[in-house]
Amino acid sequence: MAGAIPQHFIDELLARADIVDIIGRRVPLKKAGREFQACCPFHSEKTPSFTVSPSKQFYHCFGCGAHGSALGFLMEYDRLNFPEAVEELASSLGLDVPREAAFEQGPDHRPIYDMLEQAARQFEHQLRQHADAPRAVEYLRGRGVSGEIAGRFRLGYAPPGWDRLLTTLGTDENRIRRLADAGLITEQEDGKPYDRLRDRIIFPILDTRGRVVGFGGRLLGDGKPKYLNSPETPVFHKGRELYGLYEARQADAHPVRLLVVEGYMDVVALAQFGVSNAVATLGTATTADHLEKLYRATPEVVFCFDGDRAGREAAWKALQTALPLMRDGRQARFLFLPDGEDPDSLIRTIGADAFAEQVAAAKPLSTYLFDHLAGQVDTQSIDGRARLGELARPLLDRLPQGVFRDMMQQALYQRIGLNPPPAPAPQAARMPRRSAAPRPGGSIPPIRRAVALLVQHPEVADQALPSGWERLEANGIDLLRQMLDAVRASPGIRSGALVERWEDPETRRLLARLAILELGILDDAAEQFRGTLDRLTQEQRREECDALLSKSRDAPLTSEEKQRLTELLRAPGA
Ligand code: CTP
Ligand code: MN
Repeated sequence: MAGAIPQHFIDELLARADIVDIIGRRVPLKKAGREFQACCPFHSEKTPSFTVSPSKQFYHCFGCGAHGSALGFLMEYDRLNFPEAVEELASSLGLDVPREAAFEQGPDHRPIYDMLEQAARQFEHQLRQHADAPRAVEYLRGRGVSGEIAGRFRLGYAPPGWDRLLTTLGTDENRIRRLADAGLITEQEDGKPYDRLRDRIIFPILDTRGRVVGFGGRLLGDGKPKYLNSPETPVFHKGRELYGLYEARQADAHPVRLLVVEGYMDVVALAQFGVSNAVATLGTATTADHLEKLYRATPEVVFCFDGDRAGREAAWKALQTALPLMRDGRQARFLFLPDGEDPDSLIRTIGADAFAEQVAAAKPLSTYLFDHLAGQVDTQSIDGRARLGELARPLLDRLPQGVFRDMMQQALYQRIGLNPPPAPAPQAARMPRRSAAPRPGGSIPPIRRAVALLVQHPEVADQALPSGWERLEANGIDLLRQMLDAVRASPGIRSGALVERWEDPETRRLLARLAILELGILDDAAEQFRGTLDRLTQEQRREECDALLSKSRDAPLTSEEKQRLTELLRAPGA
């Protein structure tokens, strides 16, 4: 898509950027002498061993050994690849990334972007010039949109007619193909192309760099479909783009919070009332990609949902998507609007100040989660509280390790009226490891070690595994099984490609870390892998066997249990 980034630019970028500022926007830093400290965002700890040195422009964690430059931090923390991290750093400094033309990576989408930009300009122009424009302007005015706001969002108009874009922009075969690639024209059954957007107000959708990637179009009156959006194209993916994010960051590059609303008009109307930090999903549920994008721009996301049933369901879904992403320093809150209102109608009714109050009063994720679950059980009864624990447990398990997760566990204990278990001894606190050496592979849990072996040496999957291992139950075993399946389905796959198989960023990150974990050895990876599974399987069999034996002393076993016990007793190693 783009050429290589010249080294001199990267050098300059790192010279200009301030690592304290970059990290400080994502992790709360405290000054400690000449350096800054925080609890490490890359591992769980209660006392800070993560330090940022302004003089060295370097960060380093004495606990887990993570270290690097501002760029390295962005890659790790924002989960960006190198060019993306460079983009991010450059844009925070207001710089454009120069590209060397020589080296092209993947297909070149510039012609599509170019076509989209030309279309956007034409739509904008038509809102002022076309014979039908007064109707469109009237519509926008009727909805309270000023010329200034229309300009800020580059609103436009697609007049009636089947071939407006086609005749003005599709002047040759090549350009017609590009119009199609850009999602601007559709083909009839007989193959005849026609304009997709007709007689609609146009909302251009910009990516984080301000490039037009697609459009939403609204009918001027009633009718169906009320909104028509660009289809998925090589440059437009609904599950990743957020309407209004670019405009919000133009208003404030580092907003204290961003509001997520449902509609284009909600974003525009809020901006009209001075609330310029709203973005909209594009007729889809909020995805993990959306949230990663949002948290790159702000520490706090406030979801605004309709108070109706659909809105409540969407909110609960958004919460579930958000859970694995709730690293320390990130916040999510939920605002439920009165039934029948959307942010557009609400702010017109109650005004900007009252709207701001509602946002300020939005429920924190923790409150929403527990309130929602509590609504499903009778918290007055012991059974109900036990049930609450059962419902909450799998949700809390999806939170990443960290202070927030610990607090949620405490909150759960409080809600169900139990004393929390004693806190684990704060080892890291008393004995910070004054060494950057990675943890030795030997101290990690066996399944995790097996996953690390597999990701580093996919060929270990080629051997027969110990009998009975299929029944193995342990933390992380599902991932191990999925990986084995993936490797066996693609013999010869290498670590990098294997990691890429996982779309979920949390898992990818875990695998990427395990892929570089120092395992100390290894010419006997296959043996170690098999050995680990063998030991675990044997252990589990022994436990199962003991449990059945001890049960048989108190009560008769069922015939199934008896059969299982016989199997276990007969098997080697039991
Ligand atoms: N949407 C869509 N297609 C539809 C209806 C809705 O893609 N046929 C998406 C649009 O992104 C729209 C959002 O869902 O902005 C919210 O839809 P809705 O609440 O119905 O519309 P509003 O945004 O309130 O639109 P308006 O106020 O213009 O009626
Ligand atoms: Mn609306």
